[in-house]
Amino acid sequence: MRSELSTTGRILSLLKKIHINPAYFIIPIVLSIAAAAFEGVGMSLLIPMLGGFLAKDFSFIKEITGIGRIIGMLPESVSGSDKMLFLVLLSLFVVVIVVKNVLRYSASLTMSYLGTRTVHHLRKQVFSAYLGFGKLFFDRTSVGHHSIVLSQFTTEALQPLLNVDRFIQTFFSLVAYVVVMCLISWKLTLVAVPVFFLLHFGVQSMIRVIRSLSRQSAQSVSQLGKKVVEILSTIPLVKSFNTEDIERRRYTDISDHRARLEHRTNVYKQLIGPLQELITLFSALLLLSGMLFLLVREGQTTAPSFLVYFYLVLNSSNKFGVITGFQSNLANASGPVQEVASVFDSAGKHIVPDGRKTFPGLLRTIEFRDLTFSYGESRHILRNLSFSVTKNCVTALVGPTGTGKTTIVSLLLRLYDCPPESIFLDGIDIRTFTSSSLRSHMAVVSQDTLLLNDTLRANITYGLSDVSESRLNDAVARARLETYVRGLPNGLSTLIGDRGVQLSGGEKQRVSIARALLRNTDILILDEATSSLDSITEKLVQEAINEAIRGKTAIVVAHRLSTIRNAGKIVVIEDGRCHEEGTLEELLQRKGLFHSYWEEQKFA
Ligand SMILES: Nc1ncnc2c1ncn2[C@@H]1O[C@H](COP(=O)(O)OP(=O)(O)OP(=O)(O)O)[C@@H](O)[C@H]1O
Ligand SMILES: [Mg+2]
Repeated sequence: MRSELSTTGRILSLLKKIHINPAYFIIPIVLSIAAAAFEGVGMSLLIPMLGGFLAKDFSFIKEITGIGRIIGMLPESVSGSDKMLFLVLLSLFVVVIVVKNVLRYSASLTMSYLGTRTVHHLRKQVFSAYLGFGKLFFDRTSVGHHSIVLSQFTTEALQPLLNVDRFIQTFFSLVAYVVVMCLISWKLTLVAVPVFFLLHFGVQSMIRVIRSLSRQSAQSVSQLGKKVVEILSTIPLVKSFNTEDIERRRYTDISDHRARLEHRTNVYKQLIGPLQELITLFSALLLLSGMLFLLVREGQTTAPSFLVYFYLVLNSSNKFGVITGFQSNLANASGPVQEVASVFDSAGKHIVPDGRKTFPGLLRTIEFRDLTFSYGESRHILRNLSFSVTKNCVTALVGPTGTGKTTIVSLLLRLYDCPPESIFLDGIDIRTFTSSSLRSHMAVVSQDTLLLNDTLRANITYGLSDVSESRLNDAVARARLETYVRGLPNGLSTLIGDRGVQLSGGEKQRVSIARALLRNTDILILDEATSSLDSITEKLVQEAINEAIRGKTAIVVAHRLSTIRNAGKIVVIEDGRCHEEGTLEELLQRKGLFHSYWEEQKFA
């Protein structure tokens, strides 16, 4: 019971997080309660109907409060005839049942509307929460899992909410039943109610198992999602290493585990219905004997009320089905609820804190001062790193692979949080600026070209609106993409596939250069890709880079000699430290580490 409450509590706190006022749900709930009340009235109308029918005399109904008053308002010709009185009762019964169904329909409609809107809100909020998480969170988790959370768990977590009106209506119908049953015979009802409680506790043990299976099942769904994304995004690797069979087997194992969990959950879920029916039958028989006893020995009950009582007991089996069904829904949602709730828990999300100041643009220098950084583990990637970048000057970062060059760039882009007072822009700590204002002054060409499954145009103009055709064509030309685009039947409207798979390495790089050029920012950050290109493409990319950085404040992680030659300053990074810095001539004269790289032409 406690865990169920905690699932309910989690759902309520999710509603609060997404700013859905639980009070909205009062509308369908009130409609459901009203429907339940009408059901109770309908059931109690059956007693005089059956009673009058058996006694062939309906005159007694004039004495019944409520109905008596209605009959009093009717002409004598109606109230004096048994047939007419029966018709009045029947019409009342029909009206009550019609109203009950209208209320029930309205309750379901408002509930499903609220439910689908709430799921939509939750999805939206989960997505925007994801956008706020730091890159380190994504480095350490799987996209497959996140996509399952967004597409599946958000819906499953709120599934019980979609049935809450039926649950409440059924609950109040049961209360109405108990009231009518008490009116017929409180003694029998005193026996009946505990029997139903017994039923409730019997079902609880199964609910507990379903809850634990739901959590395991949520984990296996997430694993399945991880595997799908992992394999489908590395198809060339899988094919070239002939691992289709291994991957098929791995996927089958996870999927098989999930199927088994689902089957086990169903075993328990399906068992609840028959178990309930048997217990209800048993209690109905028990009550039947009690009823007969009272009827024969004490004469307290009459045949019609006996029939109605029996009908109520049997009908309550269905009602209990809805109640336990809701409980098993709640238990089933417990895994997804846990996963969705964890998205809103800020622990482990590595959110990069945002400053308050707006970065106005670079006036003089970017300074790295005694910067020490690690990705979380004890191993320091950057150690006491100090160097500066001057406005309108190209600064090249060179050094062996894995020494932290990309890390430096990522820290400048605020993809990870740096220690306080370690990076300064015109003497002001980078952490005091808002990330969005900083990024609006920086354009980046990253080492791994990140492309969307969209057209060339959409990829080049990504993040910009109202880009004129002439500006776009200019950027395409400067990125040395013009000839390539002209050769395409659909030109810039060509779709480039997932992550730009339909482009060559050099084309990808130039699309990403065109994208950065179009942004026309004061700071340009270029993390040159190390992939070796053919000499013609290499030349094209080099030309594009050299033209892009000329006269700009540029930080270039340089692997190409030509880029290094064009740099105003070269910073040599070795093992996370600034080993030496200076102009090309100075470094070559010093005959230090850079000189030896130059000699070997070894720039990672
Ligand atoms: N997200 C991460 N989490 C943990 N460690 C990381 C992460 N990214 C990089 N590293 C580690 O940090 C070190 C520096 O990586 P970085 O990518 O900055 O090197 P680099 O100088 O850019 O190398 P290359 O020239 O090959 O691009 C490496 O040892 C790498 O394993
Ligand atoms: Mg790198």
